[in-house]
Amino acid sequence: MAGKAQVVVFASQKGGSGKTTVSAHMAVQAEVSGAGPVALIDTDPQGSMAKWWNARSSAVPAFARISVPDLGRDIKLLSEAGYRLIIIDTPPAVTSTIAEVITHADLVVLPTRPSPHDLRAVGPTVDIVQIQAKPLVFVINSATARARITGETAVALSQHGTVAPVTLHHRVDFAASMIDGRTVGEVSETSRSASEVANLWAYLDDRLMRMRASDPRDMLDRPPRSTFEADILSPATAGMSGQEVDDDEDALEDQPGYALAGTGAPPPPEPAASANSNWDGVDRRKADSGPPPGKPDRRRTAHQPFGRRFTA
Ligand SMILES: Nc1ncnc2c1ncn2[C@@H]1O[C@H](COP(=O)(O)OP(=O)(O)O)[C@@H](O)[C@H]1O
Ligand SMILES: [Mg+2]
Repeated sequence: MAGKAQVVVFASQKGGSGKTTVSAHMAVQAEVSGAGPVALIDTDPQGSMAKWWNARSSAVPAFARISVPDLGRDIKLLSEAGYRLIIIDTPPAVTSTIAEVITHADLVVLPTRPSPHDLRAVGPTVDIVQIQAKPLVFVINSATARARITGETAVALSQHGTVAPVTLHHRVDFAASMIDGRTVGEVSETSRSASEVANLWAYLDDRLMRMRASDPRDMLDRPPRSTFEADILSPATAGMSGQEVDDDEDALEDQPGYALAGTGAPPPPEPAASANSNWDGVDRRKADSGPPPGKPDRRRTAHQPFGRRFTA
């Protein structure tokens, strides 16, 4: 008999955070990378996932029509039919239905936009997941490239659980590709959105693989764990791309109506100039005092053209 399929539930009380978009993309990517067969389940009465699937020309991933009270039985039936991964989309509300769906989860993914509204809304969903002691991953979705608020969101979320090291950025192809039942990768395999989707799935797949391995020694035979430094420390995210920097963006705590949770504390005082310092409140670059003692001065003068090695 086939083992039990792993169940990943996408949940968040906030509408528009990306549950349907991200779950559909993860399902297709899992199928593409050989983690299938995948079955999708839509528990949202609005049925956005079902509409997307009906518009698809591809038959994979499969779509399973089930009702929540029968979920346990149907997961068993799908497992017996050979499905290895079940991805469940949920409605944007915290209801007893969501709590019931989460009881069947092996992993809960909570997509969040980097906005104060979304951050404020994660609490009740996190509570349900923690009460049931289920593994949880936050995915930051619809981020603006290099915006400061993305990093601040990651720090705020990390107080409650693991934040996926791959961020999905705000791009029209995420919305546009789904209109006719496709994903960003099915529209353009080489797009940046497609590579984010592939990287996010690789991360989730790694998490799921670790849960499947009942004996840690099972993992010794597997390829080394892929790390995600490359995604985090890419030239684009490290501030080296040619993209515009949104320097005017407000920090989280400066946004209207947003205060860092319950601190109510006054802002930290300005660093005061101490008696024996001559700091006048303005940071300046240190004066150029030349190379350290005993080292040759390698600085170029105006006559030495750049791009040619200077030999003294
Ligand atoms: N990364 C993204 N870039 C651009 N648009 C996005 C992105 N993620 C989601 N959207 C759009 O935002 C809207 C809400 O997303 P959706 O997945 O339906 O959220 P939820 O299911 O949580 O309500 C949709 O119109 C979707 O196309
Ligand atoms: Mg939805």
